[in-house]
Amino acid sequence: MADGTTDVVAGARVLVTGASSGIGAALAVALARAGATVGICARRADRLGEVLDVCRAHAPRSRMWAVDLGDLDAIPAFAATVETALGGVDVLVNCAGIPKRRRIPELSEADLEEVMRVNFFAPVALVRALLPGMLDRGHGRIVNLTTMGTHSAAARVGAYCASKAALEMYTEALHLDLLGTGVDAQLFVPGTTRTEFSLPRDGNDPPFGPPSGMEPDDVAAAIIGQLRSGVFEAFACDDYAKTAAAKRADANGFLAGMEKVLAPRTPSDSA
Ligand SMILES: NC(=O)c1ccc[n+]([C@@H]2O[C@H](COP(=O)([O-])OP(=O)(O)OC[C@H]3O[C@@H](n4cnc5c(N)ncnc54)[C@H](OP(=O)(O)O)[C@@H]3O)[C@@H](O)[C@H]2O)c1
Repeated sequence: MADGTTDVVAGARVLVTGASSGIGAALAVALARAGATVGICARRADRLGEVLDVCRAHAPRSRMWAVDLGDLDAIPAFAATVETALGGVDVLVNCAGIPKRRRIPELSEADLEEVMRVNFFAPVALVRALLPGMLDRGHGRIVNLTTMGTHSAAARVGAYCASKAALEMYTEALHLDLLGTGVDAQLFVPGTTRTEFSLPRDGNDPPFGPPSGMEPDDVAAAIIGQLRSGVFEAFACDDYAKTAAAKRADANGFLAGMEKVLAPRTPSDSA
């Protein structure tokens, strides 16, 4: 929608963060196939290069940048580079994120700071940098990815879920504050998805299991569907939407059920 009149995807210039693997990589390719020019970023240049090659087969002007979004001071210059290279950014998809599998009593201040920086402050810094251009042009979309963890049980991922909950409320406020501007903010909620997110990693407790759940391509298709529909909040699938609705309807009952599942087994349980 470089001219503000065409499909929100076809012809759009889209920056996808966290596109070196998983959902972001699948989304970048799906967007390029749908006619968008994509800018992709993450830290691993080699993996980005592989994704870029596929994107360029469909959208030759697509670009990549190897950046650490945890370096907040560098984000304004990075955003300016992207705007110059793409000629503007019509759609920003904040997909980059890190887990933090650790119980709250064992969380360090550094753990909290890192997860808030990458999962909350970095997307916010990108919005701050790219929003003025969108407002000047009178159109734009911002899609922020959060997690089902904020809509079900945050056990053992409290800092991660706190960072995503902050991003959710920021996105909701942004959506409301942008009414009438032609720019909109949308919230996309993935649940368990078969990506590297669930692999063992430093600074985290062991994963809950091997990568499983939805396929990244299906999640990418749901994000594109949300972009086209324009709805504020979308879940990756109906089951997740139902789970979120059940918790919203009766948070105490929902958590009581989760507590039974999560409670340590007593000696009599295991007898
Ligand atoms: N997979 C799930 O079960 C699941 C469930 C709910 C929500 N989500 C959310 O979905 C989003 C995508 O995750 P995914 O499942 O696709 O996992 P993934 O394969 O691990 O992808 C995460 C992406 O974020 C990038 N990233 C991480 N730290 C970064 C940093 N400091 N600077 C720049 N890029 C950074 C990674 O690239 P580099 O390592 O190359 O930097 C990678 O491209 C995340 O926001 C996650 O919270 C995932």
